[in-house]
Amino acid sequence: MSKLAFMPFQYRHITFPDATRGDRLPFNFTTQDAGPKPKREGEEDLSGDEYESVGWLLDKAGLSISDYRPETIKRRIPACIRAVRVATIRDVCTTAGRHPELLRTAISALMIGVSSFFRDASVFETLGRSILPQLLADGSWPRIWSAGCSEGAELYSVAMLLAEQGALPRCELLGTDCRADAIARARAGTYTVEGIKGVPDNWLPRYFITDGRGWRAHPSLRTGMQWRSGNVLNTPEPGLWDLILCRNMAIYLHAPTAGRLWAQLEQSLRPGGVLVLGKAERPHGATTLRPIAPCIFRRDRS
Ligand SMILES: C[S@@+](CC[C@H](N)C(=O)[O-])C[C@H]1O[C@@H](n2cnc3c(N)ncnc32)[C@H](O)[C@@H]1O
Repeated sequence: MSKLAFMPFQYRHITFPDATRGDRLPFNFTTQDAGPKPKREGEEDLSGDEYESVGWLLDKAGLSISDYRPETIKRRIPACIRAVRVATIRDVCTTAGRHPELLRTAISALMIGVSSFFRDASVFETLGRSILPQLLADGSWPRIWSAGCSEGAELYSVAMLLAEQGALPRCELLGTDCRADAIARARAGTYTVEGIKGVPDNWLPRYFITDGRGWRAHPSLRTGMQWRSGNVLNTPEPGLWDLILCRNMAIYLHAPTAGRLWAQLEQSLRPGGVLVLGKAERPHGATTLRPIAPCIFRRDRS
């Protein structure tokens, strides 16, 4: 079967490299010669080259450009070009086509992965003071999922709160992100001196080990944590969850895609389960989620 048959329609006019044939040029863009074509959503903000190139890169990571707000993508293109050390976004694709290991670098630079320990301190205070104790009081083994976990600071923050309550060993903790290298760093649990900021001073020696240059999460924190890379929009994690944190990811999504995400997360919560969002996010369209504290929503029990 033709290689093109596997490609999403919008990429079929791009000639991809065939390593077995030793093609010298990874691919040629023909969009400029193709004459006017109808604009897709987002193309007002991105040039044709940008849309095609970023679309191709995201597609390689299992993501779809149509899910993201174009202005966010646009802002990250210079960083992506710098990270791959080339001159244009088209060069990024050409280079990543020749050196697939650079795909991760390009995707990481395109996505916004800003995170920190105990980000939005008041939310973690509520989690530690009331939400987690309530979950633990049920006597069950709480399942906790950080969706869009970046390099893991969010989930390690929850893990420390659970450890303080002596409950970490009886909890299931999962972190997922679309960036494979962020997941690799989360799994390693290593942070720079700058990256570790936010962890209270007296908790640092309790939960992290230093080699003088950086910090690594203590094995007692890491043991039992699971990390997976994937697109949360098309790979719901199996089973029902007691607590889902999905913070500061939906702000980068198109409203309809964010709506799909809320519906999916709503279904992934057990009745009575809790969803934690970023400060600027609301689960629009999710009819069974009620606000119980700033950024915190509970699914109806029935
Ligand atoms: C700004 S960071 C937020 C990290 C953390 N949740 C926090 O609030 O500190 C957003 C994260 O979402 C991830 N992300 C974006 N789209 C995603 C998708 N479709 N599936 C999984 N992760 C995604 C990005 O790679 C990035 O690590």
